Amino acid sequence: MADGLTTTLNGLINKLSGLAIPADLSLWQLALPAWFLVCFGVFYWYVFGRRSPFSVDSLRRKGPTEMNMSKRDEVLKKAFSEGRVPKGLDAIVIGSGVGGLTVAALLAKVGKKVLVLEQHEQAGGYCHSYTEKGFQFDIGLNYVGQLHENSLDRVAFDQITEGQLDFVNLGEPFDTIYIGQGQTQRKYTIYTGKTEMEAHLKKQFPDDTEAIEKFFQVMKVCARKTHHLACLKLIPRWLALFLLKTGIADVLSSVYRYSSMSHTAWLDQLTSNKDLHTIFSYFFYGVPPKDSSLYVNALLIHHYKRGAYYPKGGASEIPYHISNTIRNYGGEVLVSAPVRRILLDKNGAACGVVVGNSDSEVEVKAPIVISNCGLFNTFKNLLPPQISMKHEIQERLHRVKPGRGSFIVFCGFDATAEQLDIGPTNIRLYKDNDMNKMMDRYFNMYKDEAPDNVPMMLVTFPTAKDPTAKLRCPGKSCMTLVTMVNYEWFEEWKDMPVTKRGDQYLQYKTRFAKHMFDWACLHFPKLKEKLVFQEVYTPLSNSHFLGAYQGSMYLQHNLDLFDPVFMAKNRCDTPVKNLYLTGQDVFSCGISGALHGGLLCASSVLNHILYWDLLFLKKKLKKAKAKQDAQQAKKKLH
Ligand SMILES: Cc1cc2nc3c(=O)[nH]c(=O)nc-3n(C[C@H](O)[C@H](O)[C@H](O)COP(=O)(O)OP(=O)(O)OC[C@H]3O[C@@H](n4cnc5c(N)ncnc54)[C@H](O)[C@@H]3O)c2cc1C
Ligand SMILES: *[C@@H]1O[C@H](CO)[C@@H](O)[C@H](O)[C@H]1NC(C)=O
Repeated sequence: MADGLTTTLNGLINKLSGLAIPADLSLWQLALPAWFLVCFGVFYWYVFGRRSPFSVDSLRRKGPTEMNMSKRDEVLKKAFSEGRVPKGLDAIVIGSGVGGLTVAALLAKVGKKVLVLEQHEQAGGYCHSYTEKGFQFDIGLNYVGQLHENSLDRVAFDQITEGQLDFVNLGEPFDTIYIGQGQTQRKYTIYTGKTEMEAHLKKQFPDDTEAIEKFFQVMKVCARKTHHLACLKLIPRWLALFLLKTGIADVLSSVYRYSSMSHTAWLDQLTSNKDLHTIFSYFFYGVPPKDSSLYVNALLIHHYKRGAYYPKGGASEIPYHISNTIRNYGGEVLVSAPVRRILLDKNGAACGVVVGNSDSEVEVKAPIVISNCGLFNTFKNLLPPQISMKHEIQERLHRVKPGRGSFIVFCGFDATAEQLDIGPTNIRLYKDNDMNKMMDRYFNMYKDEAPDNVPMMLVTFPTAKDPTAKLRCPGKSCMTLVTMVNYEWFEEWKDMPVTKRGDQYLQYKTRFAKHMFDWACLHFPKLKEKLVFQEVYTPLSNSHFLGAYQGSMYLQHNLDLFDPVFMAKNRCDTPVKNLYLTGQDVFSCGISGALHGGLLCASSVLNHILYWDLLFLKKKLKKAKAKQDAQQAKKKLH
């Protein structure tokens, strides 16, 4: 490409010099076209002149799902040893969540030698699945949106998995929401579809059609203009802050306003219908809607507008295929490799990491270090204290808080979906329609009150979503119940060994689990008799298995986190040279959030905005698809 550009430019210069320049043409009249040419040249080089990780050729024909467990383990559970570290590393990635694997695959695809180090015994982070007694459970993936053909996320996923991922559409309705208890309980359903989602809500709230219209307008702006927020992390920090502080940014895009606007405050102007308030913030993440950003809540609902999807084969298909890509391009993913410290050279730049436990520490060197293990872990635990104390790092740490912990109950049944009357639709339960009051009350409860007063819950059936589950767990079904809890409720057991936390801990977490299971049984009465397996995952499990800081699922997704000025400051590059951040702490939580964390991070590392390349590829694929469709239509006609 660069050669092509040189020839074109040379040709142009020859032509220009061949022209007889009139003597009266002033210098500045020439300057304008010359300036234009330079700009064009720079743009051309920026977009096409460099190696891109994206190409149509990197897609392979989809292979069958790997069912052989030992073969899967070879990919997902390759343990760390010094001998397995590739020679001549260009980058080390700490953590193998979607955010870490994404940036690793992108760098590997442009020829960098990368090593991913994961502390757990399996790669994937929140996206890993575990199997026990013939049941397979996912930790942090229930359903993902924006994966319809040729969507940006879908194209990105295809590129980092060489086209090997397959997603199942959950169908309609993908979510059912119950608000209230007993006789007065109300049921609402959520449909996908460009127009159907809105139309279906209007049908259920006939007196609030105007409020719904307004919300959907905001949703559209938020979804279409998300790149304006992402840009803040890609352009130079001083420029981003200048645009925001002078108010120029607000003139350019309304998304900056929505991101710093309280969800409840905005909605209060539209409607007093509390059920509708609940619907518009029904994806709970531990922050009451009054303290959450309108932008995020709108984006979350928009996320599923074009369909809710589940990866065929389970969540671990995602790390499985991305890890394969990394290895196909010369990189490596090694587990049981807890990173203890980030190494700095004499100029204070990151130059490697220390891996292992206290009795066997190994140094691994690379000129670039990328952390996927979150803002708190990276800045507080992996850097020397004198570096953590730097103003810019402290400033970032002070603005954010660890979010609530997740509490998950995994249940296994000796019966099929048909026998249990369960399906792919997710159920969301809320005891009350005042989310603000309900969450404030719950999170302020005494430790002993909380287990019997869980106010909200997600009920989901992974085996019913995935047609291949029948092969993996024949005759069996799985259910996952999710709610949120305070870390403090569990903190007293935090230093005890993972399997020996004692009876009190067991009793305490079982009280939550029982309450939640009984609540689910009100909606699915056949579950009770067929239950044969139950395991409970608390914030302490989250700390143990995923190294989560204070057991939290995410950073607290409150208004502070989405304040545009903070967004501009919370970027992939850090005050430590050659140290970068990826994953959900960079932009937002979610599988898609972590994916974009990886895209943003790779853009920062390569100093090349990869979104351009991705958009070009998306256009190309769309065109090819349209052509193919037209040909097929023609064939049918004949
Ligand atoms: C219960 C639950 C349900 C969810 N449901 C959904 C959903 O339905 N849809 C959706 O889109 N999102 C969902 N999410 C959110 C989503 O799973 C996460 O936002 C996303 O996967 C985070 O990816 P990540 O790469 O940023 O981080 P993680 O997946 O957390 O990866 C970080 C990795 O770093 C490793 N690590 C930490 N410290 C070290 C160290 N010192 N050395 C080496 N490795 C280290 C960890 O072990 C971990 O593997 C859910 C989350 C939870 C908890
Ligand atoms: C599964 O894979 C392992 C290792 O590759 C192989 O030894 C074994 O025979 C395979 N099992 C089956 C049932 O194919």
